[in-house]
Amino acid sequence: HEEFTKVKNIATIELGRYEIETWYFSPFPPEYNDSVKLYFCEFCLNFMKRKEQLQRHMRKCDLKHPPGDEIYRSGTLSMFEVDGKKNKVYGQNLCYLAKLFLDHKTLYYDVDLFLFYVLCECDDRGCHMVGYFSKEKHSEESYNLACILTLPPYQRKGYGKFLIAFLVSNGSLNYWRQEDAYELSKKEGKVGTPERPLSDLGLLSYRGYWTRVLLDILKKHKGNISIKELSDMTAIKAEDILTTLQSLELIQYRKGQHVICADPKVLDRHLKAAGRGGLEVDVSKLIWTPYK
Ligand code: COA
Ligand code: NA
Repeated sequence: HEEFTKVKNIATIELGRYEIETWYFSPFPPEYNDSVKLYFCEFCLNFMKRKEQLQRHMRKCDLKHPPGDEIYRSGTLSMFEVDGKKNKVYGQNLCYLAKLFLDHKTLYYDVDLFLFYVLCECDDRGCHMVGYFSKEKHSEESYNLACILTLPPYQRKGYGKFLIAFLVSNGSLNYWRQEDAYELSKKEGKVGTPERPLSDLGLLSYRGYWTRVLLDILKKHKGNISIKELSDMTAIKAEDILTTLQSLELIQYRKGQHVICADPKVLDRHLKAAGRGGLEVDVSKLIWTPYK
């Protein structure tokens, strides 16, 4: 990609009450070429070159949350689903913003095809974006995650894991809704995998999530279980299950077959190493209406 060689242009952004140093190049329109700092409206994500422009904008902008449906609320945390077709400018702004923290992703100009799930911390001033993930509306084989981001001021607080868990729960709600995960495996759950290449931080976050989910099941499970069954239950793609379990050295190859070795002590050790669980997705707080 051409973008790899491009030099970071925008060094800092202002967003809500944060001034944030950027990580990577983002292809803002040419009229922003001479700027090193941009001022974002934290609600509509319009960006401006000068502070005074932002201040003027804030007086007229009547958004107090992302332009979409609130599909989850738990305490001060809310998730909004924004349709890129209905909110094209917002979707594009979000992509410009996100690219500042993603090195390898190409920017999606065709935001029509995407849904954006924007996570916010809400208070009396409004809903402040913490991070988001996007996903293709009509993707046949998987949930095709295009992008996941926690804004730097909010990183390492468990939001990344929350976003991943939310994304997966969205694709396999049955798994979350039912107490006995084993009953539901054959129901509609879509299997998904994040878009490659994963960033280092992305891989760490996913590996941690997959490890916890898979080992929790293996710990409780009695008797044989196949990768396929694990995949149906968790909506995690079989390849990701295999590489995760392989990286933990839980897979042996015997008589032409992969065998999962689930010694409880070993599982516990790995679970501890996988880090904190992050913020939980409380499925009872999900306002679930699948995209039509
Ligand atoms: N150094 C080392 N490990 C890190 C890390 C860092 N800076 N940031 C995250 N991790 C690992 C840790 O294992 C962490 O778990 P722990 O805090 O229990 O140890 C785990 O990832 C997830 O942490 P969490 O707080 O849930 O994630 P986050 O909110 O910080 O968001 C990303 C994780 C990947 C979304 C975030 O780093 C990000 O937006 N990065 C830039 C965009 C990107 O690379 N997206 C992925 C594209 S595939
Ligand atoms: Na975080």
